[in-house]
Amino acid sequence: MAAVSGPDHVAIIMDGNGRWASRRNLSRSVGHREGGNAVERIVEAAPNRSIHRLTLFAFSSENWNRPEAEVQVLLGLFRRTLRRNLERLHANNVRLRFVGARDKLSESLTQQMDAAEARTAGNDALELYIAVDYGGRWDIVQAARECARGCVEDGAAPETIDESGFASKLVLGDVPPPDLFIRTGGERRISNFLLWSLAYSELYFCDELWPDFDAESLDAALAWYAGRNRRFGQIPAIAQSSG
Ligand code: IPE
Ligand code: IPE
Ligand code: MG
Repeated sequence: MAAVSGPDHVAIIMDGNGRWASRRNLSRSVGHREGGNAVERIVEAAPNRSIHRLTLFAFSSENWNRPEAEVQVLLGLFRRTLRRNLERLHANNVRLRFVGARDKLSESLTQQMDAAEARTAGNDALELYIAVDYGGRWDIVQAARECARGCVEDGAAPETIDESGFASKLVLGDVPPPDLFIRTGGERRISNFLLWSLAYSELYFCDELWPDFDAESLDAALAWYAGRNRRFGQIPAIAQSSG
């Protein structure tokens, strides 16, 4: 039997920080801090498992609707985690990219993000995409606007827009779609993550809360993935023979 290759691109909804904390009678911010430690563990573990691209959902378009104090905790933690880990990520040959709207973020934060992207731009052991103020619907609308702008500028008919041209305007338009999607924390939903590019991803949901997620949990997800038969709408024999 042919060896099943592992996922090249893994995308994770890191959910359950708040519940992890409340089960211990701790504040939600402690849960977010522990969640930050889980991020460090998984970023370290991924390249050793032949994962070349990792997309992490850190803050959604809808997370702005949380109490202001929690939003500030999340953004502050994001800044500190980035500051603390940047040089190690760079030394580990990790390339960082942030995806999402930037207009609501402070200028000093966007400068920090730009600097981190520039610092790690030449690295290639792992492409790490952090989705911040990201929403799948926002992404689709901004891609639609780009396409519309292109048509207006070129005087082209709307019929010239096709799936691949449209997909190339998404924020991860230059990146192959996730092979494996993981959501921790027990919910079975997409919560406005990568709506377009998850079309044929394998969807893995686990009850473990994100702060508890570790290399062993990742291995369990990878083992589950190895048992999938990805058909992409074809019948098995054809799907296998075309690779
Ligand atoms: C995930 O944990 C972190 C973010 C959404 C930023 P939650 O904060 O959603 O934790 P739960 O789902 O309330 O337990
Ligand atoms: C999804 O988790 C967003 C992130 C992990 C950043 P949420 O906790 O915000 O999702 P819902 O509210 O349970 O759908
Ligand atoms: Mg949640």
